[in-house]
Amino acid sequence: MKVLIVYYSMYGHIRSMAEAVKEGAGGVNGADVIIYRVPETLPEEVLIKMGAQEAQKAQAHVPVCKLEDLVSADAIIFGTPTRFGNMCGQMRQFLDATGGLWSKGSLVGKVGSVFTSSATQHGGQESTILSFHITLLHHGMVIVGLPYSFAGQMRIDEITGGSPYGASTIAGGDGKRMPSENELDAARFQGRHVAEITAKLFR
Ligand SMILES: Cc1cc2nc3c(=O)[nH]c(=O)nc-3n(C[C@H](O)[C@H](O)[C@H](O)COP(=O)(O)O)c2cc1C
Repeated sequence: MKVLIVYYSMYGHIRSMAEAVKEGAGGVNGADVIIYRVPETLPEEVLIKMGAQEAQKAQAHVPVCKLEDLVSADAIIFGTPTRFGNMCGQMRQFLDATGGLWSKGSLVGKVGSVFTSSATQHGGQESTILSFHITLLHHGMVIVGLPYSFAGQMRIDEITGGSPYGASTIAGGDGKRMPSENELDAARFQGRHVAEITAKLFR
């Protein structure tokens, strides 16, 4: 059973959530979990201007996802930062290249799931995940979210991401807040939950 985590992360928040998703999915018997990033679309000078150079260097070793990698997966968990309440352009561009897979029904019946990150608490995490689901549904994927059995999303004693749609983290206006333990727990839970559901379908 192959579980892919396919993400884009400009400043490292989604990258760190992706590692937690991997931990969760990897704990399920029979799950082979691989992390990929989607291709960068911005020139280096723009990334430097956006202050993303260090974070980009830190993930340079992560393999870039190819379309055929998606075909061999049983489940794909996507991670994207919020851009104006939607997925980022890098992820959109990657997905817009999957028309050939769509025409062959290559992703039909695979499990799909999404996690995200935004600067502000109400800056569009839910809309990013829900609008991402539309693309996955067009591909015939089986959507899995983050059930309320992850009790950490009920917390109101601290500011936290996480909703029934998927795990999320709040990066802060200056991007300095890294995922909290509760948000990483949500990511682990989502990874494990996706792998468990996939195992049931696989059987
Ligand atoms: C062009 C642009 C649009 C953004 N739009 C939003 C937004 O709508 N809401 C929000 O809270 N944060 C927004 N952000 C902040 C990003 O979501 C934040 O930098 C990201 O979640 C950090 O994750 P990363 O480190 O994995 O890239 C935006 C950032 C950029 C560069």
